[in-house]
Amino acid sequence: MRFLSGIQPSGKLHLGNYFGAIKQYLELQDKGEGLYFIADLHALTSVQNGDKLREMTLDVAIDYLALGLDPKKSILFLQSDIPEVTELAWILSTVTGMGLLERCHAYKDKVSKGLKASAGLFTYPILMAADILIYRSDAVPVGEDQAQHIEVAQDIAQSFNAVYGPILKRPEAKISPAARVPGTDGRKMSKSYGNTIEIFAEGGSLKKAVMGIVTDSKAVSDPKDPDKCNVFALYRLMASPAEIEELRSKYLAGGMGYGEAKNMLLAKIDATFAQFREARKKLAADRGYVLSVLKEGAAKARAIAAETMADVRKAVGISP
Ligand code: ADP
Ligand code: TRP
Repeated sequence: MRFLSGIQPSGKLHLGNYFGAIKQYLELQDKGEGLYFIADLHALTSVQNGDKLREMTLDVAIDYLALGLDPKKSILFLQSDIPEVTELAWILSTVTGMGLLERCHAYKDKVSKGLKASAGLFTYPILMAADILIYRSDAVPVGEDQAQHIEVAQDIAQSFNAVYGPILKRPEAKISPAARVPGTDGRKMSKSYGNTIEIFAEGGSLKKAVMGIVTDSKAVSDPKDPDKCNVFALYRLMASPAEIEELRSKYLAGGMGYGEAKNMLLAKIDATFAQFREARKKLAADRGYVLSVLKEGAAKARAIAAETMADVRKAVGISP
């Protein structure tokens, strides 16, 4: 079983990325062959500053390694280190109907959030399909918001195969169970809303983010509804079933203020991520090691991509 997943290096990773995506991806390392890449080409649709992109790309690589990606088990690489992907994306664009892309929500959502309506943003799902199909991936773990893009990849594989024969493998989506992690303002946590709690935040900046979580204005003595509270929703991602029940009863009983719940959440975040922060500091001090992991990963990924491309080029007639 081959798993593949990509993440854009377009900002600091947050708890939504971790619980909605990365945690599940990393658990798969023991269940099959894992390919994890940093989608730097996709990030060009939103980050248009070379120095910044380079820095964020390396940051995400360090984050992944710190969070437990094991280069002995999995392949970690940069999307842009595999030039065959853009070649395949072009070929796939010739079998992709405009209607398929026009139906994609992500494009409209991103434009409505202020991203430039570029051709790259519109054809983003084709590059994503190329990422998936070039490695003949069996399953693609993603958050719910990416589910439609996997359907697009399935459709494109089918259109290609209908014209050229059974060459591309149909990938299955593996949608993460923690579908929507709320941000500090209660909307979906997202860097574009500025409501994130960063995975590697600590000390004062972490405290500031947690204390800033929006709650209702019930008094300390009032009973509170845990299922409508953003603090509780975040706490339950990290706590044991017994701890969740304990906090739930405190909410329902009244007598506990939101400040106390926030302090419990803060302690939980510290307990969950302290080990990763230490690992990250060590990796950040050893850039050479991180770059060598990416280089080795690229060589392995490229060997797989080359095999698929040999079949694709032959089928479409561009390798005489
Ligand atoms: P952002 O919304 O901050 O730009 P991305 O779109 O880069 O995040 O998301 C990267 C991955 O993390 C995706 O697979 C996405 O599904 C997941 N993800 C992001 N935010 C959340 C969230 N609030 N809840 C659950 N999963 C999320
Ligand atoms: N579009 C994905 C996101 O924003 C990132 C991505 C690019 C991806 N290519 C991929 C995810 C291929 C899975 C498979 O989260």
